[in-house]
Amino acid sequence: MTAPAPDNASNQFSERAAELRQLLTRAAHAYYVLDAPELEDAVYDQLYRELLDLETAHPELVSADSPTQRVGGTPSEGFASVAHRIPLFSLDNAFSAEELRSWYARLLKVLDREPQASEPLPALAMVGELKIDGNALALSYENGVLIRGTTRGDGEQGEEITTNVRTIASIPLRLQLDPPPWVEVRGEALIPDRTFAAINADRAARDEPLFANPRNACAGTLRQLDPKVVAARRLDFFAYTLHLPDNWEGPRPISQWECLSWLSSAGFRVNPNAALLPDLAAVETFFNSWDSQRHDLDYATDGVVVKLNDLRLQDSAGFTQKAPRWAIALKYPAEEAPSRLLRITCQVGRTGVITPVAEFEPVALAGTSVSRATLHNADRLAELDLHSGDTIVVRKAGEIIPEVLRVLSELRPEGALPLDLPHQCPSCASELVRESGEAATRCVNSSCPAILRGALRHWVSKGALDVEGMGGKLIEQLVERGLIRSISDLYGLDAALLSSLERMGEKSAENLISAMEASRSQPWARQLYGLGIHHVGEVNAKGLAAAFPDIDTLARTAVDHPEAISELHGIGPEITQSLQQWFNTPANQRLIKQLQDVGLSLASSEQERQELASRSSTDGVLSGQTVVLTGTLPSMSRTQAKELIEAAGGKVSGSVSKKTSFVLAGEEAGSKLEKANKLGISVIDEAGLVALLQSSQS
Ligand code: IVH
Repeated sequence: MTAPAPDNASNQFSERAAELRQLLTRAAHAYYVLDAPELEDAVYDQLYRELLDLETAHPELVSADSPTQRVGGTPSEGFASVAHRIPLFSLDNAFSAEELRSWYARLLKVLDREPQASEPLPALAMVGELKIDGNALALSYENGVLIRGTTRGDGEQGEEITTNVRTIASIPLRLQLDPPPWVEVRGEALIPDRTFAAINADRAARDEPLFANPRNACAGTLRQLDPKVVAARRLDFFAYTLHLPDNWEGPRPISQWECLSWLSSAGFRVNPNAALLPDLAAVETFFNSWDSQRHDLDYATDGVVVKLNDLRLQDSAGFTQKAPRWAIALKYPAEEAPSRLLRITCQVGRTGVITPVAEFEPVALAGTSVSRATLHNADRLAELDLHSGDTIVVRKAGEIIPEVLRVLSELRPEGALPLDLPHQCPSCASELVRESGEAATRCVNSSCPAILRGALRHWVSKGALDVEGMGGKLIEQLVERGLIRSISDLYGLDAALLSSLERMGEKSAENLISAMEASRSQPWARQLYGLGIHHVGEVNAKGLAAAFPDIDTLARTAVDHPEAISELHGIGPEITQSLQQWFNTPANQRLIKQLQDVGLSLASSEQERQELASRSSTDGVLSGQTVVLTGTLPSMSRTQAKELIEAAGGKVSGSVSKKTSFVLAGEEAGSKLEKANKLGISVIDEAGLVALLQSSQS
């Protein structure tokens, strides 16, 4: 047989290249023309790189219509398209220190500053700036007056959005210095995270589709036809580049660093985190120091931009077809990336809830290697429509649990089979149950080992009985060997038995027994929380423990008079129903009996009761009041406002009724405000709320 392998391989490459071209072209159109991005940036970048690598290795695969052959997209209709006086270039990316160094080596070469073999690298001063993850704008000023604001578009032509740009408070309408006849300023428009959260909360309240992230929200806002909407969204702008007429004789910056101070004195907001960096080592330190710090900022950055400081040197380095040679974007590891799905497995939680988990080929995300991500529940699984071998988009940002964002179904292998939740519990093989109206699929076998392990882990956890030394591995062994069948069995363990277990010395066994003993005197609220009743978190457990002196009273009320529980402050119908169900379940009734038999009180101590009695019921300034939120608040998100209200003892409700104490209204408040006015309910704004909360502290 004559070797067929190379042919097959080259076929495979050209097919993959064609698939990638199609996918990337569509994504670019959706992004640039429709303002409805289909691909996450980092995913686009990575697939783009894959195509670029393929085309570099096999130049015969390059086609004129490949997205690698052009930058950006065509401006869409709706706003006038204008040619940029000076094109807006893009930036080349570097994803590692090596790529940064080879950029620097290329730069030295074009500047004719290459060192001789034995010489050290010449140091060129650079400016490090944060790479703001927003939307580039070009601003034209004539005789000091803002006359035009344009989006980047395809870099050659953008859309004229001057009326919208004028609404951005950090863009001066008139320059605050002796103006040249014309000047072009470039920078990045953005929506701060806090404002973004408020915008989305408001959209959710109005049942409008949410923005995917601040950058999409910003892009959508810039192209809003109604400037009032733009103004309400409170965009921000950081200026970073400046172009002056060649013949301008007035003061002219000679470095990027001076450009930034020029921009600042002209009245622009310049990002305060820029730094003048003497050499490449300083660039690397700057980049590394922002890797963690950037998460504390109120806006997104996906890297740093490094620019040669000296403008004359910039001039001599010049541009490639799409990017300046004198600058580079150093990117942080992607937080989203494509990967190939291997299988779906399931986790069984302590309440029996089944969580499907995607297992996929390892990818580097936010600096770690990730190969598993949650799929949440059966609905999400159905929505994703996963098939074996699918290319999926995975996200992990900082502390966020990895999740599967979506599937690139265009890349689905032929004949791939759909993947679904199993019908049986992976731990005990009993049939799984999904009740109508519930998102969760559950294992309802109360002696399922996975559920027992979860229940035990929860019982000993920090917020509950807080038993130091009782870790997950130990619990696993105890359950596996059949030494423990219920939480109450934890109190029957003896040191001799424990010390016979793996990695358990005599001393640590004794310590553990004393820790278990000590846990008996934990407060009633912690014991109640430790039972792991659905919806009874630490806060609700405290509320319930304050209202009911012991578990028998609570159980009787939950079963016979649930309405008495619903009347409690902060306890909604869901919690009441969950309590009723829990106490009605025979296995749980047995558990209570067993715990009481081993000596747990499941009741408040005399001291706890006295403390409660001495606490006044007018704890918070808003205690007993019900507040409704509407509209966008100037400085806090709805979640923040809700937290403040709740911390002051108030309750936040979703709809206005006669029971509403007052309405907290921001900008663009809608029907709730109308209803409040109709019912004669008082309305306050953010400042009013702050004053109210402060009044209680003075
Ligand atoms: S300089 C020719 N500086 O990144 C100079 N760009 O990936 C090009 N960006 O289109 C721009 N922060 O929208 C520059 N401090 C910064 C930036 C920055 C964000 C954006 C800009 C550009 C894109 C290139």
